[in-house]
Amino acid sequence: MSSLTILVVGATGSIGVHVVREALARGHHVRALVRSSARAQDLPEGAEVVVGDLTVAETLGAAVDGIDAVVFTHGSHWGSGAAESVDYGAVRNVLTALDGRPVRISLMTAIGTTDRANDGHDWKRRAERLVRASGNAYTVARPGWFDYNEPDERRIVMLQGDLRSTASPADGVIARDQIARVLVEALTTPEADHTTLELVAERGPAQDDLALVFGALVADSTIDGALDKDNMPLTEEPPRVRDDLAAVGQ
Ligand SMILES: NC(=O)c1ccc[n+]([C@@H]2O[C@H](COP(=O)([O-])OP(=O)(O)OC[C@H]3O[C@@H](n4cnc5c(N)ncnc54)[C@H](OP(=O)(O)O)[C@@H]3O)[C@@H](O)[C@H]2O)c1
Repeated sequence: MSSLTILVVGATGSIGVHVVREALARGHHVRALVRSSARAQDLPEGAEVVVGDLTVAETLGAAVDGIDAVVFTHGSHWGSGAAESVDYGAVRNVLTALDGRPVRISLMTAIGTTDRANDGHDWKRRAERLVRASGNAYTVARPGWFDYNEPDERRIVMLQGDLRSTASPADGVIARDQIARVLVEALTTPEADHTTLELVAERGPAQDDLALVFGALVADSTIDGALDKDNMPLTEEPPRVRDDLAAVGQ
């Protein structure tokens, strides 16, 4: 397997730190984006640290320089009002900073993202759409509830259609380290390209290889996940969102 230079966005977060560790363990070069060098203290040793503001594209030049891949694990807190600037903005700004240079992308959003019950979901979904429109190879993973799994719930299950939206652990659960594994392994798994999946774990051991699990998915062919509900028509999207989609799809 070839070694990639991977930018981790949200590297200091609860999933990001696992992604950094997982990517280093697989022999990749890891570049961790942090908002200040003080925030980098708890990162695993061996990661390159780059400072930038994910809400401002102009600060991300050094972060994207020479990268092969990006793993997005960032996210604003529920009710903070920052879903557009952070959840969506980080994806738009990294793509803007890349200026059309191709990269392999893994994007983490959340199970229930296509449920339009709240504005935060819509901004995560718009971030997904930017990735799909960008022309890059990608995987969008929508995890269930972090670390609500029992110790024997390690069998990775990938769902499609985003049909679970109780906004509770009843929608599915998965350990943080397994989310990181899926995001990193997707980068080098051809079967994972152009897939959108809800990610949960069920009773049983983890699989050794995820190629078969990814390979059973229906590939995406539009700016939405392959089996997503058609409940966010582009014609009703804000003009600035349509402009961003046009800009990344150049
Ligand atoms: N909890 C769950 O069960 C669950 C399930 C599915 C999906 N999710 C989603 O997962 C996402 C991440 O959750 P988490 O618990 O991993 O969050 P977290 O630990 O707070 O990590 C969030 C990351 O995003 C970065 N970030 C947030 N706001 C920023 C800003 N304004 N500027 C720069 N960086 C910023 C943080 O940087 P700093 O370290 O500098 O703050 C951190 O690296 C959330 O959006 C959530 O919706 C959660």
